[in-house]
Amino acid sequence: MKENYFADKNRYDNGMEFERCGRSGVLLPKVSLGFWHNFGSVDPYERSREITHYAFDHGITHFDLANNYGPVYGSAEETMGRLMDEDFRPYRDELFISSKAGYDMWPGPYGNWGSRKYLMASLDQSLKRMKIDYVDLFYSHRYDPETPLEETLQALVDIVRQGKALYIGISRWPLEAARFAAKYLRERDVPLLIYQGRLNMLDREPMEEGILDFCAEEGVGFISFSPLAQGLLTDRYLNGVPADSRMSKGKFLKEEMLTPELLAKLKRYNEIATSRDETLAEMALAWVLHQKGVTSVLVGASSTAQLEKNLKCVSAAPFDDVL
Ligand SMILES: NC(=O)c1ccc[n+]([C@@H]2O[C@H](COP(=O)([O-])OP(=O)(O)OC[C@H]3O[C@@H](n4cnc5c(N)ncnc54)[C@H](OP(=O)(O)O)[C@@H]3O)[C@@H](O)[C@H]2O)c1
Repeated sequence: MKENYFADKNRYDNGMEFERCGRSGVLLPKVSLGFWHNFGSVDPYERSREITHYAFDHGITHFDLANNYGPVYGSAEETMGRLMDEDFRPYRDELFISSKAGYDMWPGPYGNWGSRKYLMASLDQSLKRMKIDYVDLFYSHRYDPETPLEETLQALVDIVRQGKALYIGISRWPLEAARFAAKYLRERDVPLLIYQGRLNMLDREPMEEGILDFCAEEGVGFISFSPLAQGLLTDRYLNGVPADSRMSKGKFLKEEMLTPELLAKLKRYNEIATSRDETLAEMALAWVLHQKGVTSVLVGASSTAQLEKNLKCVSAAPFDDVL
């Protein structure tokens, strides 16, 4: 018999800070939890469950999902559905749950990219899997160069009008398309809430491309995915490749990436972190949080111990030097 979950009464006094998401009424925790890895049907449910309890007990109110997170596709959302049934239903109004559609999800021409047909059907499936009536945030997961932007964006507007999502986000859209989206959505009174992009100490493209400036100017929030570069910006790979690590699985983080040059850079960053009395992970997350316009870092974790370390970034010292 499973033990009932009762959230920690002090969950909002455990060190989490909240940041306003652009020019909106929404406050997001500085650290949010992503379900891309570690929440699929291949992962032990009890571990996934424990990670979400730890997260929520420490003020992580934002869980980020997508239709195809798993593996298998859809199974991270099914895990969320089971968690809703078993633990989180009483706390639904304290949770900010997102999902996305944009990558391949089911076979044939209607299970991918940015058509109205795909986005509408996908969100309906996501809601069923997660056993919820609406998501707080629904994203176009990627820019589709073949579908008219108006079609994708109008589908997002209509999803909000149908009450199936409260807010809209875009992920990995190029700058010009993001500008178009912000204007289109604003004119229809469904302002773009947030942009999700990969920003970390090793990959600064959203800064270089002007996405962060765009977000700050437009009053759009920015949430950084893979802020630890999938674990590279931690102590995980400083002394080899551990057997239980993402890199050892070899699918999304490949061993070839860990070149001697990269390893030397990581070791240098690690020394700087030590001199700041921080772990590399803590410093890497704090670095992202200190960039102008960043609302939250969206971390992954394969254990509560990792999450515990990562949460320290919330109170990390500012950076005197440009890293
Ligand atoms: N919009 C998009 O296209 C997109 C793309 C990718 C991700 N995302 C979102 O972003 C979320 C986070 O992505 P991510 O998982 O790549 O994020 P990440 O935080 O960069 O990497 C997480 C991984 O790093 C390792 N790790 C985390 N904390 C650690 C610590 N303190 N010490 C040592 N290792 C640590 C763990 O890997 P091990 O398994 O090795 O322990 C963990 O699974 C996803 O879940 C998803 O919600 C969105």
